[in-house]
Amino acid sequence: MLQDKKIIVGITAGIAAYKAAILVRALVKKGAQVQVILTEKAKKFVTPLTLATLSKRPALSALANEADGTWHNHVELGLWADLMLVAPATANTLAKMANGQADSLLLTTYLSARCPVVVAPAMDLDMYAHPSTRENLRRLAAFGNIVLEAPAGELASGLVGQGRMMEPEDIVAALERVLGRGRELEGLRALVNAGPTHEAIDPVRFIGNHSSGKMGLAIARELAERGAQVCLVAGPIALRLEHPRVERVDVVSAREMLQACLDRWPGMDCAILSAAVADYRPAEVAPRKIKRDGEALRLELVPNPDIAAEMGKAKRPGQILAGFALETNDELRNAQAKLQRKGLDFIVLNSLAEPGAGFAHDTNRVTLVDALRPPVPFPLKTKDQVAADIVDHLALRLGRAGNMPDPGSVQQAAD
Ligand code: PMT
Repeated sequence: MLQDKKIIVGITAGIAAYKAAILVRALVKKGAQVQVILTEKAKKFVTPLTLATLSKRPALSALANEADGTWHNHVELGLWADLMLVAPATANTLAKMANGQADSLLLTTYLSARCPVVVAPAMDLDMYAHPSTRENLRRLAAFGNIVLEAPAGELASGLVGQGRMMEPEDIVAALERVLGRGRELEGLRALVNAGPTHEAIDPVRFIGNHSSGKMGLAIARELAERGAQVCLVAGPIALRLEHPRVERVDVVSAREMLQACLDRWPGMDCAILSAAVADYRPAEVAPRKIKRDGEALRLELVPNPDIAAEMGKAKRPGQILAGFALETNDELRNAQAKLQRKGLDFIVLNSLAEPGAGFAHDTNRVTLVDALRPPVPFPLKTKDQVAADIVDHLALRLGRAGNMPDPGSVQQAAD
């Protein structure tokens, strides 16, 4: 996918700049032509010599070459590129990009670029969570740029949280998807639910589960980037998703999620239900905080509605409804039973027995179970890649796959 693609790698002044060297090397190994543009301050973190050696081209930073009086033509650079990546993108550069500032070669090139622009932010967790940074990322996404949200983990400061730059191999995979992606879902209306639900016990406590929302947000992003208009119904999760084609509806409980999904379902072409919906809720919610009195506390639980089954009943011809099955044993049999019982067209099976699969991981290992074909198992992949496989299958089911190969046949060939 990257062979002979012309890629500008913009590097700004953050500690993650050291990883940009690995990124440049990985892109060159994949056959891409890489032009590095780094800010003056980024040179304190990684040298132009290293980057020029790895990319086999001079690494540029200044707007003009003072030695011979020539200038580096940002317009030509912007037109040359098939894709521009800014990684790491600091809070400062993101703010400048969001506001059209043009005081460096990197920024003038960004403003001139007609190709897709991808940003991989990296900064400390409080800077990343700051409303001004969030607003800048939202604006950049609204302008059509692709934001690779920073994963959570240990940061250079020693703090732990969201803000570390996405790993170079994941950025490379994301660029392959951007360059390989069609717009075959243009005009499609898709509903995705994601995250857990919280079922109140009293004003301070609830029953919940470990769903982070990563899987569902990856699906929503993938659908939107292929042109679909997405309604994301999200349970209580901390993750954010900035995309101009994603409308987000936040809910807390299963009953709120049911209402939000059912209200929108008639106007949708398809839905992918990845939420981990609580099957039970307390029969009564205590109006005040339950006091500890040393005695055992018994909660009576009543069943919650089954959102997938309700949507299955309301499904009209032509709509495609997909669910997930989270299993710990008898995986395939249970998934097939859920497929039938809930009136789904296909179900994505993931098992908690698999290392790296299920809740909260950045990876997942799934099997696509479709009533119309034998199950298709996939290897362990990032949740973004899993989302791409699921959306490939959805596109096939909707008759919108174009010339795209059938993901099942590709997977079986790989096996
Ligand atoms: O959010 P992450 O941390 O990334 O984790 C992802 C995930 C593990 C939550 C996701 O991959 C997943 O498996 N989601 C479904 C979890 C689940 O509740 O599975 P289930 O087998 O209990 O439910 C089957 C299907 O019915 C699901 O589509 C579920 O959304 C739906 N359901 C379940 C119960 C209920 N009351 N209403 C429902 O709609």
